[in-house]
Amino acid sequence: MKQLKLSLLIASMASCVYAQNQNWFYATTANQSAQELAENYPDQIQILDASETVSAVYMTEEVAMKLKESDNLHGPAYIFRKDKTAAINAANAQPQMNLNVLDFTIDQDSFVNLCIGQVNEQNIENTILEMEAYGTRFTTKPSGVQASYDIKDKWQNIATTAGRSDVTVEAFDHSFTNQISVILTIPGSMYPDEYVILGGHLDSGDYWLQNYAPGADDNGSGIATLTETLRVLLANNFHPLRTVQFMAYAAEEIGLYGSADIAESYYYADKDVKAVLQLDMTNYKGSSYDIAIISDAEYTSNDLNLYLVDLLEHYNSAGEHKITYGFSNCGYGCSDHVSWTENGYMASFPFEAAMNQDNPNIHTTNDTYAAMGSTAVHSVKFAKLALEFAIETAKTNTMKTSEVNEANLMVTVKNRELIYNLSGQTGALSSISIFDGSGRKMIQDSKLSATGSLSLNGLANGLYIAVFKDQNGKVFSKKFLLK
Ligand code: BES
Ligand code: ZN
Repeated sequence: MKQLKLSLLIASMASCVYAQNQNWFYATTANQSAQELAENYPDQIQILDASETVSAVYMTEEVAMKLKESDNLHGPAYIFRKDKTAAINAANAQPQMNLNVLDFTIDQDSFVNLCIGQVNEQNIENTILEMEAYGTRFTTKPSGVQASYDIKDKWQNIATTAGRSDVTVEAFDHSFTNQISVILTIPGSMYPDEYVILGGHLDSGDYWLQNYAPGADDNGSGIATLTETLRVLLANNFHPLRTVQFMAYAAEEIGLYGSADIAESYYYADKDVKAVLQLDMTNYKGSSYDIAIISDAEYTSNDLNLYLVDLLEHYNSAGEHKITYGFSNCGYGCSDHVSWTENGYMASFPFEAAMNQDNPNIHTTNDTYAAMGSTAVHSVKFAKLALEFAIETAKTNTMKTSEVNEANLMVTVKNRELIYNLSGQTGALSSISIFDGSGRKMIQDSKLSATGSLSLNGLANGLYIAVFKDQNGKVFSKKFLLK
């Protein structure tokens, strides 16, 4: 019954967007939106429950369109929920507090540097153009369904070409659309039940644009970035300790539905997902810096965001792989990372530009590769970050296992002093830097001894990262809480 209702909903969305119809569905939306709709269209929406900010609603498709309309091309409309319980649970979900990212380390320098040197812009261009060529990848359109199966084949070919029969590529079927999500799995050799996930949506369009939605940037670019990241990893015989999964999500543009389905199934299967990276729009350089780390507190993990800062500081602070970064907020549940966050997993969303400086052509017929200047240099940077993220969070067999957790990296805080002992790791230091929760450098000191202490006076209470550089350029980092 539920399935029937959902398929009817999707089918009608495709065919009669402007027509009046009475298909009802569950969703969550901002309290203010729910209340405005309830005032103006009382017989088309029921508010089922509300937390401080978010309401669970049951509403008609018609009234949902009013929300879309008022948001212009994109914005904080609503998120589909598959049933009443899912809607109410989502409205009442508490933001996650997750501190185990304190264990994340950076120690895979040689393999990471080998890989980031091999990212190929031409490959990214080719995939973006392939995505664009479907005309539309809207979830209900035959070409959108075809695109999803083609991505599955493409990823399978990459695995086969690399001679990797241990790598699997599977369709994740959804009850509400014929479009599949694609999941590629590189099995972890030591911790197979710990997952590191990189994903982005494969569909394009929005309600208004279903027939011609080339979606070169949104999100052909993310799929192209993931595909190139995967190619480089497998070409270099990547055998992670943790399981790494690449995901191309169906049906994001109609309310994050594909990723929500997957993340929820992971939650119910009690899967231990360590970290999720979302790639959605990577090829338009609209800001003075390269990568905007989306840092909405309720939708991304602050700890994981800091880890991305760590990676960028470590691998991309200078030279041919230089990448600059800043911070920005979506202000609403704007992409698939939210599906993971809502299920209690840590997710980050490095984005192409600051909010409002991003590609103005998305969700229009002009979202083409040509409109981005026919270059993929911007996406190359995201592929490098994705490689750093995949390799460092999942680790490789080339390392001694003892190096996975830095048992010899002793860092504690006592009486507002950072006390450190890196003598098990290195002989002498060249610098110590302290970054705050938003990635700003607060303290820089050129202490030389591997053992010592640093005054933290003047710093407000909160979470910080201490970054120690040794005289060979190796970097050790540790997060700490000042309280
Ligand atoms: N790629 C966009 C999200 C986006 C757009 C992020 C602009 C930052 C700046 C994504 O495909 C999208 O369109 N999301 C929807 C919301 C979703 C819940 C349907 C949106 O932003 O309207
Ligand atoms: Zn979009």
